[in-house]
Amino acid sequence: MTNANDQISPAARAAFLRQEIQRHSRLYFQDDNPEIPDAQFDLLVRELEVLEASHPELISPGSPTAMVGAPTGGRALKEVTRAIPMLSLDKALSAEEIQDFEDRVKRFLGTSESVPFRTMPKFDGLAVELIYAGRILTLASTRGDGRTGEDITPNVKTISSIPQTLNSSAPGSELRVRGEVYMDKSEFVRLNEEREAAGLSVFANPRNAAAGSLRQLDSRETSRRRLSFFAYGLAEPEMAEVETYAGLMVRLAEWGFPVEASAASRSTDKISEVIAILEKLANDRDQLPYEVDGLVVTVDSLSLWPRLGATSRSPRYAVAAKFKPRAAVTKVLSIEVQVGRTGALTPVAIMEPALVGGVTVSQATLHNEDELKRKDVRPGDWVQIQRAGDVIPEIIAVELQRRPPDLAPFEFPHHCPVCGTEAVRKLDEAVSRCPNPSCPAQIEARLIHFAHKGALDIEGLGQKVAALLLSKELVGQPSDLFRLTLTKLQALPRFGSKSAANLIAAIDKARTKNLWRFINGLSIRHVGERSSQILAGHFKSLKALSEATREQLLSLNDIGPEVAQSVLDFFQSPLNQSFISDLIGQELGVKPTFEEPLASGGLSGQRFVLTGTLSGMTRAEAKARIIAKGGRVLSAVSRETDFVVAGEAAGSKLTEAKKLGIPTLDEKGLLALLDGGSAPAEKPEN
Ligand code: IVH
Repeated sequence: MTNANDQISPAARAAFLRQEIQRHSRLYFQDDNPEIPDAQFDLLVRELEVLEASHPELISPGSPTAMVGAPTGGRALKEVTRAIPMLSLDKALSAEEIQDFEDRVKRFLGTSESVPFRTMPKFDGLAVELIYAGRILTLASTRGDGRTGEDITPNVKTISSIPQTLNSSAPGSELRVRGEVYMDKSEFVRLNEEREAAGLSVFANPRNAAAGSLRQLDSRETSRRRLSFFAYGLAEPEMAEVETYAGLMVRLAEWGFPVEASAASRSTDKISEVIAILEKLANDRDQLPYEVDGLVVTVDSLSLWPRLGATSRSPRYAVAAKFKPRAAVTKVLSIEVQVGRTGALTPVAIMEPALVGGVTVSQATLHNEDELKRKDVRPGDWVQIQRAGDVIPEIIAVELQRRPPDLAPFEFPHHCPVCGTEAVRKLDEAVSRCPNPSCPAQIEARLIHFAHKGALDIEGLGQKVAALLLSKELVGQPSDLFRLTLTKLQALPRFGSKSAANLIAAIDKARTKNLWRFINGLSIRHVGERSSQILAGHFKSLKALSEATREQLLSLNDIGPEVAQSVLDFFQSPLNQSFISDLIGQELGVKPTFEEPLASGGLSGQRFVLTGTLSGMTRAEAKARIIAKGGRVLSAVSRETDFVVAGEAAGSKLTEAKKLGIPTLDEKGLLALLDGGSAPAEKPEN
């Protein structure tokens, strides 16, 4: 059979593909009415790319493939759901916490003998999972939230150190390899220089650069940025058929993966040695070609791993020992008072840019008026700053010996610096606020919050875009976002057709996000993600929530009087009433979806009190595991308590539970409950 394409010239086929890609982009973005699934669309783009690669004369600047970053017209990466989640690691922030890790391991194993460990630098990149089937790389994904990540297969295939085919010693069955994609420091510098020359924004650190490169929709862009990879584990370590973590590293290397040599080369059973290795690595880190942010310490014997198990977040057989935060000294140029979404006035120190652990820092929050007074930071002061991990930089102390004698203390303003309204500070609060809900700064901050990751997650709507939309009066309140159109956006200075289409698509997606995200996005004081989930779970719609009574709110587990009051206050304000009725009116097509947030096996809202000594875990661990399942751990027994967990030598709390008729659990009962079974609780008679 002849292929119909054989008779068509490559030029005609390319023209046809371009036209089709554009038509489908339009159907998808403008008409919200796609004719074909994403995967089929991607195939059209891929076919055009292949055609252009073999016929370079066909490449034209107007081609959809020439649009860097998003040849697929801004379509998102596909989601990948995995059966064996990628967990994160617990952190140890000091030598004591490393010691605690060893103690915990020994206690769990019920041994006083030393346990051999392996150490490996903690690479500061992105965790990925690579799936091989028949020794061929078939799927690569980001970690995402552990269970669901993003499909980055075409991008990963451009990384030269990742084998696309494994050596014959590797098993032919499905193999899931985990490791870190990172960018060398030298490549980071090169990339930023290139971007700067091209007038593009630069990346703050190699990790962000690696992440940005890996999540490109156009894999040719990824291939232009040289990324590297280290393998450090398997989803199913037993597939390596080895006894130890060191053996696992040797296997991974045999199969064809790049591994970092240290874990295979020495084991140590003295925790003091681990601490020394960490210190040495901290001293040597600047000499390494890549960024590291700590040392991963792992129990060497793989047979102990299942015995130690994992919490829902992290395995118990490994820990990430972090370096001490890097500090620097710099000068405070001024103190700015910023206005947050609830009107809170936050002093921020603007500093001479300083390099702290590879990142340029030029601002640090001073939290509130009291904190500012306590630290007594003044414009013109020299200050010590530090940054721990990704945390916002902090001023540790003022170098008083360097303070010029005439430096005046900073006067905290009595008025909102943006709208001029007199600031209000309640007696029992550390924060002064601008009480004017129509303050432009608050409106902007609320718009940004509405769109942020924990709320409607509208990518592309950060501070700059929010400010632009407000200044052009395209948006007044957050619900106006749903009135934006491609034409309106394209008329704005910063927007090209690509970025406009991307933003419209992200807003479209937000219309049907989960109800709790909408609630979180409203900027109700004291209502964060967790309260939003509780409120969504009970009221099931924005309308019902807006009509909630004080009694209804207070009847909910975990909603206290403060939260209840601010929910009531919020819906009583005329400004908010008009916002909500606009949001839920027919016109905007906003239809929040509703799911039970902590449905299966959750201990959502249940109150626990722990007493006595548990044998298999510490109290802190029991607490962490209860919280991880949505439960709460309180210190005193009351009528509100749902379960009292009683270990060895339980005292007065157990007596109290019995008196109040509260069910008690022993350790086995708790474990059963945590595993999602029903609790074999003992209900006292009476
Ligand atoms: S885990 C039990 N090793 O840290 C297996 N994770 O895992 C122990 N990470 O985001 C090995 N370098 O991407 C391990 N050498 C390393 C690592 C490492 C970086 C990251 C990983 C994840 C986080 C927690």
